[in-house]
Amino acid sequence: MAVRANRTNLATKWTIYLLLIVVPMFVSLIAKRGLRCAAQPGSKFTPKRCFSFSSKTWNKGYQHDFLPSGAVVASGSNVGVEETAYDISVAYSPKKREPLGSFRRQNREPSPAMKSPTGEDNLFVSKALDDGSVAIGVADGVGGWAEAGYDSSAISRELCNFLQKRFEENGSNSGLSPKGLLQDAFKDVIGSEKVEIGGTTACLGILTPDYKLKVANLGDSWCGVFRDYELVNETKFQTHNFNTPFQLAKIPQHIIKQAELQNRRYIIDSPNDADAYTWDLKKGDLILFATDGVTDNVVSEDIGRFLKDKFELNSSISLGDVSQAFVDNVVRVSKDANYPSSFAQELSKLTGLKYLGGKEDDITVILVRVK
Ligand SMILES: *[C@@H]1O[C@H](CO)[C@@H](O)[C@H](O)[C@H]1NC(C)=O
Ligand SMILES: *[C@@H]1O[C@H](CO)[C@@H](O)[C@H](O)[C@H]1NC(C)=O
Ligand SMILES: *[C@@H]1O[C@H](CO)[C@@H](O)[C@H](O)[C@H]1NC(C)=O
Repeated sequence: MAVRANRTNLATKWTIYLLLIVVPMFVSLIAKRGLRCAAQPGSKFTPKRCFSFSSKTWNKGYQHDFLPSGAVVASGSNVGVEETAYDISVAYSPKKREPLGSFRRQNREPSPAMKSPTGEDNLFVSKALDDGSVAIGVADGVGGWAEAGYDSSAISRELCNFLQKRFEENGSNSGLSPKGLLQDAFKDVIGSEKVEIGGTTACLGILTPDYKLKVANLGDSWCGVFRDYELVNETKFQTHNFNTPFQLAKIPQHIIKQAELQNRRYIIDSPNDADAYTWDLKKGDLILFATDGVTDNVVSEDIGRFLKDKFELNSSISLGDVSQAFVDNVVRVSKDANYPSSFAQELSKLTGLKYLGGKEDDITVILVRVK
């Protein structure tokens, strides 16, 4: 009887697993990444996290006044936007990629995402407008397209380029919102020859001279405001299924039709689906924009603790050094098979099985301090 009950229990668990995890994975053809967390039923599961801080030194990025248009600033850099109320820094680390067989066959070149310093992630930091406002944001390209031989980093890169260009050229129009900016920039992406096909998330904000942060978020990138190292405001993740975020997509009609014939459907969300937020800022607030390479690994409490540790240990530490050290630590735990990452915990909750392990991914952050 007991054995029987156990079996039923296990069968139920597997049914739930199949329904929740496996089925959506196959149904959503372009779910961003496979599930790589190894189940470790025997290992003791601790909800406590061990996001500790190493004192590894980093090759420091350079500092300069403005981002060269279309180029990504060096990781660990302070991005001086002097005439504003904000210090801004960026840091990133692309995940290790194997050359893809299919891509090599078709193009005889490694996937462009392999050469991108940010992988399929991208970011932008605009110049300051005359009134002192600045736009910043991150975008995470959907990886699946690389396997079909396309440049899956093009769409997030071009989206960031257009967001920056639109803001710098027309941002002083009063009333420009991040969501409006996203709508305009995505039209540019649709029209751009540089983007053949692809999907991307986007999380962008406008920092205003009167201490407001306006944010638009589509998908599972993230923005949070820390006051005295406590999270006070954050964006919500937008997902269709577990591990399948909302995404802006550009897919040629013939490929959509082809998929329809096989009863498949691509996920194509609209900039109108983005959530919009406006938050009040205070001097000393820390704002983090991050792709899911961060949030799939560490929870916000740990981010706050990390920032506190860094700034309290060294009051003169540069923002660029903090953001680089942060990315370094996220990279480290993402490769740790015993780390109870947010992703593993979510998976454990969904399946009732114990999962452990970090989640390797492109990791990109913009860290802002309100002066
Ligand atoms: C700026 O606005 C003008 C007038 O509305 C428009 O023609 C132009 O394309 C816009 N430029 C950008 C980069 O958005
Ligand atoms: C943002 O956080 C502040 C401080 O906790 C809070 O008063 C405010 O209501 C929050 N804003 C939103 C839109 O949740
Ligand atoms: C504090 O941070 C500054 C700037 O990032 C760095 O140059 C300095 O070496 C740090 N001091 C200590 C004691 O770590």
